[in-house]
Amino acid sequence: PKLDLGLQPDKLVARVPLFNTLSAERVTAIAQLLTPLLLVPGEQVVSKGEPGDAMYFISSGAVQVRIEPDPVLLGSGDFFGELALLTQAPRNADVIAMAYCQLLVLQSQDFQQLLAENPSLQEQINRIARDRLDVEISP
Ligand code: CMP
Repeated sequence: PKLDLGLQPDKLVARVPLFNTLSAERVTAIAQLLTPLLLVPGEQVVSKGEPGDAMYFISSGAVQVRIEPDPVLLGSGDFFGELALLTQAPRNADVIAMAYCQLLVLQSQDFQQLLAENPSLQEQINRIARDRLDVEISP
């Protein structure tokens, strides 16, 4: 029998509230663009200063975004790594797993397509990205 690791992208996608407003067909289409990634505690998934090639949705677990002066904790349903894809700038922070994490990876070449096909998703990602950039540039 096939070993079931519970890694089916569609089930992981269902746990990300950002995708909840989308139809079942869209969720299925999105799931095909996403690759599951399991992190162990302490594992670094994004490194400050590197070019961005993907963004990440957190299906379960928690990561720490090491911004100054205080790190930010992101958990289930949150996403990260979108800024480098939106701004073409290098990664602006290290991101470290604080627990076992189930992530969904969206490669940059699929990012534009996904956003173009899902305007509500694009709006939500843009809004959160803007808030994060405000934090970065505030004194
Ligand atoms: P990126 O710059 O690609 O890589 C580091 C990520 O950390 C960044 O995208 C955001 O997703 C995330 N990040 C940066 N600043 C903040 C913040 N103020 N709050 C939450 N997440 C952030």
